Amino acid sequence: MPIRRAPRLTEAEVTDEAVYLNRRAFLAAAAAGAATLALAGSQGSAGAGAVPSTRGPLPALRNPRWSTTEPTNRLDEATTYNNFYEFGVDKDDPARLGHLLHPRPWTVQVGGLVRKPARFDVDDLLKLAPLEERIYPLRCVEAWSMVIPWIGYPLSALLKRVEPLGSATFVAFTTLLDPEQFPAQKPQLLGFAGLDWPYAEGLRLDEALHPLTLLTFGMYGQVLPNQNGAPIRVVIPWKYGFKSAKSIVRITLMREQPKTAWNAAAPQEYGFYANVNPTVDHPRWSQATERRLGEFRRRKTAPFNGFADEVAALYTGMDLRRDY
Ligand code: MTE
Repeated sequence: MPIRRAPRLTEAEVTDEAVYLNRRAFLAAAAAGAATLALAGSQGSAGAGAVPSTRGPLPALRNPRWSTTEPTNRLDEATTYNNFYEFGVDKDDPARLGHLLHPRPWTVQVGGLVRKPARFDVDDLLKLAPLEERIYPLRCVEAWSMVIPWIGYPLSALLKRVEPLGSATFVAFTTLLDPEQFPAQKPQLLGFAGLDWPYAEGLRLDEALHPLTLLTFGMYGQVLPNQNGAPIRVVIPWKYGFKSAKSIVRITLMREQPKTAWNAAAPQEYGFYANVNPTVDHPRWSQATERRLGEFRRRKTAPFNGFADEVAALYTGMDLRRDY
């Protein structure tokens, strides 16, 4: 991939660069979504008692071995400034429209090149391994960052349960496809975010098995809010935030490198590996520094987002400037 020095853009420009938006079409869809919600609300009241709570505390012990000691951002920062393009392209769309998503009932299909494929109910997944709190910085490719206390357990616990075959080399993650819950997936808006739905991401199997890769159910001591990817997402702290797929319904082990949403939309801008790397600029802006939400001065971006000691060995022999 040719690396070009980027003209300096303001953050607003960077954010807008991420997508090719059709705001008018989106507003129409959002209005349609609101109408759907009103209908769902009136129908839902009859059986409301049967739906398990999707809010509330989610107790977990902090794991200092895999946590940064940096101060965390405020909950309201982490829940009102989001990227979740299924709801729209503005940072406040996910908080505004997140109520359209119904995180229960919810199942996750885990299959592909595994000995024991299975469909898991998310409430069973919650009990598969002890929940831990991990404090990770989240570094978005758009050059902003936050520090968030996530709750989950290593994805490896789930992957080992299904017994990967020797031929499995990659893991693909697929987000829910449902335009009723994700208004920006409405067919008339295809291409509006520059993405083909459903949102798809992937990791190499050894990355997915790394103890830092967190299958995530909560944050800030609470169940994951919808705008942050309820009821289940992954968090891969040494990679740009777009690798951390939200609201996952399928995990597939495969031989070939999976197609990913951003890589398919703009291969020259978003690579498969997408490790945080201050020395490789995005074609249109620098990645050398970042703006931590709540801070005035920009700070330097750390290689692998501060986790070089833990993960650099995964890439021995690779040219990370080329295999971005
Ligand atoms: N997952 C899905 N399904 N859809 C998305 O648009 N955005 C990604 C990632 N996961 C995204 C997604 C990007 S670009 C980032 S930076 C993080 O989610 C943001 O996570 P947060 O909103 O919880 O901070």
